[in-house]
Amino acid sequence: MDLKKEILYVRILGIETSCDETGAAVIEGNPDDKQVVLLSNVIASSLSLHAKTGGIIPEVAAREQLKYILPVIDQALADAKLTQEKIDAIAVTFGPGLIGSLLVGVETAKTLAYTWNKPIIPVNHLVGHIYANFVRGNSKFEIRNSKFTSGDIQFPAIALVVSGGHTDLVLMKKHGSIMWIGGTRDDAAGEAFDKIGRLLNLPYPAGPVIAKLAEKGNAKAFNFPRPMIGSKDFDFSFSGLKTAVLCEVKAMKQLDNDAIADLSASVQQAIVDVLVRKTTKAAQKYKVKSFLLAGGVAANELLRKELEVSCHKLKVKFFVPTKNLCTDNAAMIASAAFFTYDEVAWEKITANPGLHFV
Ligand code: KG4
Ligand code: ZN
Repeated sequence: MDLKKEILYVRILGIETSCDETGAAVIEGNPDDKQVVLLSNVIASSLSLHAKTGGIIPEVAAREQLKYILPVIDQALADAKLTQEKIDAIAVTFGPGLIGSLLVGVETAKTLAYTWNKPIIPVNHLVGHIYANFVRGNSKFEIRNSKFTSGDIQFPAIALVVSGGHTDLVLMKKHGSIMWIGGTRDDAAGEAFDKIGRLLNLPYPAGPVIAKLAEKGNAKAFNFPRPMIGSKDFDFSFSGLKTAVLCEVKAMKQLDNDAIADLSASVQQAIVDVLVRKTTKAAQKYKVKSFLLAGGVAANELLRKELEVSCHKLKVKFFVPTKNLCTDNAAMIASAAFFTYDEVAWEKITANPGLHFV
């Protein structure tokens, strides 16, 4: 289907089940627009179950998703005040992620595409995170009180995807053209937050908890390493940080609330320092016009603020989705499908847990 020729407004149902969330959302866009409008966004999470076990148990996540998937899709259509006839295409995350979880979304989307007779677009979850920035009214770019919307995003752009499983830096010359320029060599930024959280006896996922505790702590209390901050490439490494925190904790007589707050603030600052320094260096090198921050860790207030300030100095426009669109959601999947529309025959789509950026 050629979107530009055939349809004025396109409505896409997105489905996302790559990890522990079960998401469905509907977006609407005009092929001439530079952004899409969110009509509904529903997420069911089994996070409270995983908080009890200190992490995700894949089988538990997939079994919960099987229960949620159809009600979540029904709710997304109801919230958008649309019936299935008004949906033009179905977009689904096909990787990377947990195989059991991915299968729930992929097989549901394929079945719906077949029975409703709709085109289906497989979306890479990582690309999806970036496209949360293109959802209208949900992105922020503020410099000196002037406000821009996602429609102001210009290419070339650099995108930093920081999530629980990934830390990747990519260059985008246009929609669908993504060049990977660097990433983590070991733990992802979100993984570092989560693993350090375990050392501090904090609940999973620890990223938002550490960010909250850091508000009361001293970021200079511990001088944690900033691995690879000065290296010439655009790679990252966060596993050494975890070891450094473990050493500090072991050396302490008592891990009281003040110590946890100071450790949280110092860890957060170390992660943010590395991410900001290396990514702004890449923005300079590639002379980009826009910076797109994405992924669950993009919800981190310190990272958002420090990147915004650095981009401002470089005269690069900074964009970041609202916090609910930083963590896993289906709106970003539908948005990516809209801008990189590439339908595939349903029988050719298979879940790919090990998928990379390109
Ligand atoms: O993108 P996401 O929802 O799932 C993955 O695709 O991994 O990201 C989840 C990650 C978790 O590691 C979580 O601890 C982290 O994002 N996270 C945060 C914050 N909110 C979520 N990390 C730091 N600060 C936050 N405010
Ligand atoms: Zn994600």
